[in-house]
Amino acid sequence: MHNEIEEILFTEDEIQKQTKELGQTITKQFEGKFPLAIGVLKGAMPFMSDLLKNVNTHVEMDFMDVSSYGGGMESSGEVRIVKDLNTQVKGRDLLIIEDIIDSGLTLGYLVDLFKHRGAKSITIVTLLDKPSGRKADVSADLVGFEVPDAFVVGYGLDFEEKYRNLPYIGVLKPEIYS
Ligand code: PRP
Ligand code: MN
Ligand code: MG
Repeated sequence: MHNEIEEILFTEDEIQKQTKELGQTITKQFEGKFPLAIGVLKGAMPFMSDLLKNVNTHVEMDFMDVSSYGGGMESSGEVRIVKDLNTQVKGRDLLIIEDIIDSGLTLGYLVDLFKHRGAKSITIVTLLDKPSGRKADVSADLVGFEVPDAFVVGYGLDFEEKYRNLPYIGVLKPEIYS
């Protein structure tokens, strides 16, 4: 699997260190509150798991599965709810957890949805931000790393459902996806 990776952008150690810092920031931000942490499946799973271990305040966890890529490389622009939350959002402080913001369409959709459902506040944390891909006007409150316009995989990010279990984030060799 590793020989399909062209270059490692962020090592396991770098991700863990950054995740710890984000966790500490979130701890301060939500002190005395009981936020609802919403992981956006499937990509956010490894990051959410590591991040919340570093958050030292009570959090409730829930998951939402929305998909906009339909297995392809480019976002179709159409966001589809695959699995909705089990929790009521009304009056809650939300912490949306994402692995990457690219076009912003997924997050734009979720923010509108949760506002409509009456969230008290919405905070967005993403491990990766790819500003060059942006189509919707959304930005994260907390960002782990900015990434260039490359095909990045690992630590939750997939290509055709593979590479999510890599402990690092890397650039996929073009021959794999072209
Ligand atoms: C990926 C990624 C983000 C979203 C970002 O999810 O995990 O959720 O796309 O792209 P955007 O900003 O252009 O909307 P995907 O829909 O591929 O589902 P997955 O998490 O199950 O891989
Ligand atoms: Mn995702
Ligand atoms: Mg995907």
